[in-house]
Amino acid sequence: MAEKFDVVDVIRTKRDKNILSDDQIDWVIDAYTRGVVDPEQMSALAMAVFLNGMTRPEIARWCNAMIDSGERLGFESLGVPTSDKHSTGGVGDKITLPLAPLVAAFGVAVPQLSGRGLGHTGGTLDKLESIPGWNCNLTNEQVEAQLKDPNVRSVICAAGPNLAPADKKLYALRDITATVDCVPLIATSIMSKKIAEGTDALILDVKVGSGAFMKQLDMARELARTMVDLGTDAGVNTVAMLTDMSTPLGLTAGNAMEVRESVEVLAGGGPQDVVDLTVALAVEMLDAAGQPQGEDEVRAALQDGRAMDKWRNLIAAQGGDVDAELPWATETQDVLAETDGVMTRLDALDVGVAAWRLGAGRARATDPVQAGAGVVMHAKPGDQVTAGQPLMTLHTDTPDQFPRALEVLDGAWDIAPVGTAFTPGPIVIEKIV
Ligand code: URA
Repeated sequence: MAEKFDVVDVIRTKRDKNILSDDQIDWVIDAYTRGVVDPEQMSALAMAVFLNGMTRPEIARWCNAMIDSGERLGFESLGVPTSDKHSTGGVGDKITLPLAPLVAAFGVAVPQLSGRGLGHTGGTLDKLESIPGWNCNLTNEQVEAQLKDPNVRSVICAAGPNLAPADKKLYALRDITATVDCVPLIATSIMSKKIAEGTDALILDVKVGSGAFMKQLDMARELARTMVDLGTDAGVNTVAMLTDMSTPLGLTAGNAMEVRESVEVLAGGGPQDVVDLTVALAVEMLDAAGQPQGEDEVRAALQDGRAMDKWRNLIAAQGGDVDAELPWATETQDVLAETDGVMTRLDALDVGVAAWRLGAGRARATDPVQAGAGVVMHAKPGDQVTAGQPLMTLHTDTPDQFPRALEVLDGAWDIAPVGTAFTPGPIVIEKIV
């Protein structure tokens, strides 16, 4: 059968700063998914979109076409509301781990379809795979059964191959053609998967700062606004929180070490910033799902073991040995403070790249990751430090990587003179509804 359009005309339309018609968008996404449009042609179109943008109606149509490239899930049969969270990615961002069981502890089901890390940002699935036996590949029936079980009520797994397959192909292409950091393409990529997943409510954690896609507040705001509008128009109760990613979250950036830190949070301890962000996002997820809870009540569920019980059941339901010792890397190296003073900056991107070089992350989608590798931080902005104390400890199974990690950490922090008054900024910067 003859194709409806010539792809060269579609590329030319966007190259010349014109608006793509609904039919052009539907066709090009479908034809690319079918393999009729070649990767080099789709790369040219993605670059034209990157350079010339898309209007709101084009973005909405592009998102719908990506959803229609695959299946739509639905959780109507559960009989309880569903609420999901998506983070645009950062360094030390382990929030999904304590958050999903925490929200589930209040009876709201959490269908958390997660990804793997690429570059300096970690991936939830890589972190959880450091738990022996834990499995991220579930069928739709297994996902539903887990969400239906009142003792579990949450699932953290990989998106199946039929969920927005156009995005899977396009994201891989954008990754190798410098077209990732583009608001219309990020917004449609994220929201096509989330809308197709069928959640009732969605909280977007849009990271801002050196360790995030969006380095500037105005770009992050635009991305958040675009995604909230796409979700709302599709009937998903969507809220975005702009949150700080200028410095890593918590005191660890690496796979097994982030699971350990998350378990500390679920046991009622853990670093304050991780606890505060987990609680803030849980409050929003419960509210958006129509089951509002006060902040104190949500904090109490971390303190009294309700969230921990759900975590244990969640890990066990997916084959994980929740009591197993998590792996450690074989080699460590301390990085010492050279002066006394107050830490006023610790750069998220530099720490993320160091963790990646130590083996915690991957350069290509098919590379393996080291479970024990990463960076443990002993000081964060606002802390007093003393000359000679360890500021961080680097962990790896491949010690020949220490020099490359140390290279990127050169200049990654500032220490101001003793007595300097310094208070870190808030973790939640702004809410967009
Ligand atoms: N995460 C996604 O799923 N897609 C993007 O484009 C960027 C981040």
